[in-house]
Amino acid sequence: SGTRLSGIKTSGPAHLGNYLGAVRRWAGDQRPDDVFLVADLHGMTSTHNPHRLRQYARQAFALLIASGVDPERAVVFVQSDLVREHGALTWVLECTCTYGEAKRMIQFKEKSRGQDSVRLGLLTYPVLQAADILLYGADRVPVGEDQREHVELARALANRFNGAYGEVFVVPEGVLPKVGARIKDLSEPTRTMAKSSGETPGVVFVLDSPDLVRRKVLRAVTDELDTVRYAPKEQPGVSNLLEILGACTGVSPREIGADITGYEQLRSTVADAVVELLRPVRERMTELLDDPAELDRLRALGAHRARERATPRLEAALKVVGLG
Ligand code: TYM
Repeated sequence: SGTRLSGIKTSGPAHLGNYLGAVRRWAGDQRPDDVFLVADLHGMTSTHNPHRLRQYARQAFALLIASGVDPERAVVFVQSDLVREHGALTWVLECTCTYGEAKRMIQFKEKSRGQDSVRLGLLTYPVLQAADILLYGADRVPVGEDQREHVELARALANRFNGAYGEVFVVPEGVLPKVGARIKDLSEPTRTMAKSSGETPGVVFVLDSPDLVRRKVLRAVTDELDTVRYAPKEQPGVSNLLEILGACTGVSPREIGADITGYEQLRSTVADAVVELLRPVRERMTELLDDPAELDRLRALGAHRARERATPRLEAALKVVGLG
């Protein structure tokens, strides 16, 4: 038993990396205690469009359900529906975390580098994420590689808080997938596939049409070596395609290339696999997005159940630090 918890932020539409590295795994191995959230507060740490933020939250909520997370069983909710609870614990944890810890986070360093107007929320973002995790007593957090450090911070804050004030929080652990933990951009395979890259041929979005998915994969950057081999350092493009194919089919990326003879065959095999993987998800997502009443019902149900789960621990945390 135990509680699995994870989330997806709404800074842009969900992509293949989000799906293979994280969302798809949430639907497997479901337990009644699971909690999954659409992190829309996390979606506004850099310049954002309010209308889009709301739209991406609806889409991400539909994605979780379309991917197979059962909203009647797991708690599936939108973070801003509990903005008071998450906001309150974030403050308490900001007073548990140090400035040094926050500014050393790799994502903060990468995303703030060279920017002259960095939102303070970009710095405190991992603390909000720790609040998401700790409010629900999660012990396992299934994420992709890029979120490992943030889960480690949540772990450190839980330990520090418990040590200073008494045992309130469960100490969480990140769980990474064996294959697909870091899917790369198809056009720039040394970079992680990311929402912040925007509309580029290197990022396959879950809602892209099958035609567009195919075109993007067929244009994937490879190399001049002309050998299908899993060697991420020497052949990042080819290795990324093998990683994607392995994640789609459940075969190790080292083995899956054996029967593939050239880059053309590799690209078209991967294109087929990705199109077939995403097709049912996109179709169910579209159906749900066309049924706003049902989506609103599930969202309200999730918010209600999330609040029931979060409130006792929030009150315990406020009490032990001397608030209220
Ligand atoms: P986000 O929205 O960036 O990503 C959602 C999940 O997708 C994984 N992921 C990837 N996996 C493989 N390859 C990639 N290229 C790739 N890109 C993203 C991420 O690791 C993540 O698991 N801060 C989080 C959202 C969040 C959260 C939480 C997660 C908010 N609260 C609490 C866990 C627990 C984020 O920005 O994820």
